Amino acid sequence: MTAPPAPGPEGRHLMGALSSFKRDSLSLITELQGYGGIARVRLGPYLVHQLTGPEFIKHVLQDNTDNYRRGRFYQGFNLFMGRGMLTTDGAEWRARRDISQPFFQRAWLHGASGVITSCAEELIARWEGPAERGEEIELVDEMMWLAMGVLSRMLFGVDLRDRYAELAPAVRFSLKAMILTGEVSQMLPRWVPTRYRRDLRRHQAVLNGVMDDVIALHRAGGGDPDDLVSALLKATDAETGRSWPDRQIRAELKTLFMAGHETTGCALAWTLYSVAQHADVRRKLEAELDSVLGDRAPTPGDLPDLPYLRQVVDESLRLHPPIWVFPRDVVEDDVIGGHHIPAGTTLLIPPYAAHRDPGAWESPEAFDPERFCPAGRGPARYTYLPFGGGARRCVGYYMALLEIQFTVAMLVRRYHLSLVPAQQVTPVGLVSLRPARGIRVRLVKRGA
Ligand code: HEM
Repeated sequence: MTAPPAPGPEGRHLMGALSSFKRDSLSLITELQGYGGIARVRLGPYLVHQLTGPEFIKHVLQDNTDNYRRGRFYQGFNLFMGRGMLTTDGAEWRARRDISQPFFQRAWLHGASGVITSCAEELIARWEGPAERGEEIELVDEMMWLAMGVLSRMLFGVDLRDRYAELAPAVRFSLKAMILTGEVSQMLPRWVPTRYRRDLRRHQAVLNGVMDDVIALHRAGGGDPDDLVSALLKATDAETGRSWPDRQIRAELKTLFMAGHETTGCALAWTLYSVAQHADVRRKLEAELDSVLGDRAPTPGDLPDLPYLRQVVDESLRLHPPIWVFPRDVVEDDVIGGHHIPAGTTLLIPPYAAHRDPGAWESPEAFDPERFCPAGRGPARYTYLPFGGGARRCVGYYMALLEIQFTVAMLVRRYHLSLVPAQQVTPVGLVSLRPARGIRVRLVKRGA
């Protein structure tokens, strides 16, 4: 006998909850969380189950992983990333992850962490003018600029901020275009000449062109022979023994570029926003930073002495997880929590909703770093998943944590960020969780 279907909202019309999902995806996933740990919903042509129950999430990410693949929602990502580590499965994925993994080990990242402090110093210098003149700055864009510098210098050995003016619009466009919404512009065949197609091709060409230049530079001997790009250039196919084609190397670079800087930039902006909102948190953080660091930049060895900094970052990733949802497709029929999960349908795992589950978190909407005290003793498994979980957990999680902790430490030591009054900071779920209209702040030099 087939298990019963999971509970969920009745489809109000043919397209189910698709229009609510497009209009306000965060409200919809939060509403679905109210059905318990599993909810069933129709999003246009797609039958979807949302999982927030930790044991159900564990089933998918850890216990029965072979039955859950990247699937149709991730295919949209290939438009801008190509088939790389994020969107492939099985042996294809393993080969890609194995090449990159060594560059995400703690020891390697600690050795390269000077890049983070030097990018943060540059930002501190860049902020001097606006601070003196009392000008507003837009925090999200500033953090994207910083994160693009860190990622490209640390992993590619070049500073792609030289091309920020071309790259930033391409990234912004891709964040919308990667999401499969079932809209006509996305469904039309490729040869139909729409404005969307023209823009798509233009932005794809920017990303491809930039990555080709990185590859060409390394081929010409202008890169570090021991860096990640050089490792990709040396990679060979396990079956044929041939070098990876350029398309595959480019896909890996685009994947790391897109998955690595945009997420971290959002996390930084949200963390600084929360600190600016909570004077008590800011004062406690400043006291810790002043006593441990004084006027010097942090090193990896300082992190154990900065527990409150880590708590603030962990809490920010809970309340504003940059990857607010991630999908899987179901290979064969399964039963989760006693409910039938049909083959060929899609699962959504939304950290944004799981992190607001009132069963797992007290006063979930409050920003309270104390809930992560003592730092390092994490919450129950699979209730907190800013970086996903299981074998597909974010390869760059430690790099992100290092970058966020160092940067927040350095910026908070130097500046008070005060939010421009009367602005609405509303999160919106694109591929990442972004403030809809940015975050405007004024800077005051500390001690000034
Ligand atoms: C705060 C920053 C970040 C957040 C919140 C984040 C979040 C995530 C999440 C939730 C996943 C799992 C997706 C899934 O299972 O479907 C993931 C995977 C991934 N992330 Fe991150 N990430 C961050 C930073 C980074 C950085 C810095 C890099 C690299 C430079 C990176 C590269 C990747 C890649 C390549 C994957 C796919 C891994 C695999 O499937 O093996 N991420 N990330």
